[in-house]
Amino acid sequence: MKKLWGSRFTQETEKRALSFTSSLSFDKRLYRYDILGSIAHVRMLASCGIISEGDGEVIVAALEEVEKEMFHDQFSYLESDEDIHTAIERGVVEKVGSEIGGKLHTARSRNDQVALDLRMYLKDEQAKIMAFLGELIEVVLSLAHHNLDLLFPGYTHLQRAQPVLLSHHFMAYGEMLRRDYERLEINFEHTDHMPLGSGALAGVSYPVDREMLARELKFSRITRNSMDAVSDRDFALEFLSNASILMVHLSRLAEEMILWSTSEFGFIELSDRYATGSSMMPQKKNPDIWELVRGKVGRVIGNLGSLLVVLKGLPLSYNRDLQEDKELVFDTADTVKEILPLVGDVLRSTKINQDRIAASTSRGFLTATDMADYLVKKGVPFRKAHHIVGKVVLYCSQNSLTFEELGMDIYKQFDRHFDQDIYEVVSLSKSIASKNIVGGTARQQVAYQIEETTRWVEEKKEDLRKLRERCYFV
Ligand code: ARG
Repeated sequence: MKKLWGSRFTQETEKRALSFTSSLSFDKRLYRYDILGSIAHVRMLASCGIISEGDGEVIVAALEEVEKEMFHDQFSYLESDEDIHTAIERGVVEKVGSEIGGKLHTARSRNDQVALDLRMYLKDEQAKIMAFLGELIEVVLSLAHHNLDLLFPGYTHLQRAQPVLLSHHFMAYGEMLRRDYERLEINFEHTDHMPLGSGALAGVSYPVDREMLARELKFSRITRNSMDAVSDRDFALEFLSNASILMVHLSRLAEEMILWSTSEFGFIELSDRYATGSSMMPQKKNPDIWELVRGKVGRVIGNLGSLLVVLKGLPLSYNRDLQEDKELVFDTADTVKEILPLVGDVLRSTKINQDRIAASTSRGFLTATDMADYLVKKGVPFRKAHHIVGKVVLYCSQNSLTFEELGMDIYKQFDRHFDQDIYEVVSLSKSIASKNIVGGTARQQVAYQIEETTRWVEEKKEDLRKLRERCYFV
């Protein structure tokens, strides 16, 4: 088969060189974007008088036929097709002859073409991921809603620290996921720049209508610099980075779910439907899904690292190194799309062991800080109050007592400011109720957070509906 660029060469490409440089095996999946882009390009060429209307129609029909064949797996790819762009162009030429088919690539290079395809593909993937993310936030909201009043030991340094509501804990993840969503919205705007017309690197010398291409291909803007347009991949880097942050959030959640499901914690029980057994130890119920969520962060962060390294020190403008972007982006998008709905399902099916949580909340002197604050409010300087409460904790733990069980006479021995009202202050529910400040764990505040995020989710659904109109196959 003759190459797109064969005439300058007197010898055939070595087989091994060809297979090393080919991207067809993985960029095949871009065929629909490539054909959409080509159809818009040909229509624009015809409308600007660069090719005739008649030729334009013939090429568009051939492109549509190629698309059908590819869709039904009936297209015969050749080993000599370097990439999907080459394969499609060959398909067109085979159908309509090189006299007309040869006009498809007028005023275009594979360099701006591949940039276009990747941007179109990523716009779709970002919209899909945003939809999954929105659904996951709804699962988190419903968990928070159903556990609105459940007291929970809040941790720092993985040591019991202060009482919180379990709903507050879940809503912390709600906040993280919201920011992940917003980052993707920004990423979408950065991806939404139409690069055709940049040619190989310098722009093209034909009177092309780039704005028309942008309209036809549902882009809101055109790229402003042709050299940047063919060599920039920061929209992809941004995607890999956003996906990495999202996955880091999910892996923190995964780690907590794994920990909470141990017999040591026993806070939750995984549903049989989403747990796995051990081939050797009959008693085991393993959190493999959460472990894989945690584990797959490795590849997602790795993909980000790889693309950063590909781009580092790469001179302008297009270099073949850039071909390495695709597998990294595809793998990340596939991984995230698989994980998000699964995480939602697993969370939904998880049983919360209220008794175990209650038992662990009652131990650990979670209201020690409240006791110090109590003394402060009675005029004791905070540092001194901290010291006094430390002594109380030591005494209680040596005598296996809780704050509630400690007699008033003993309290008085630690400090004269202690009074009957201390028993209110050290109660878990009072402690939580006292954190009635925006962002605090008091029921009223958490309920407000849930309400506010629920409204946000509804707004985002509307925004996403509009965003989808700027996409292709979602
Ligand atoms: N397969 C190439 C890629 O993915 C397409 C662009 C090739 N351009 C070139 N001048 N060889 O980047």
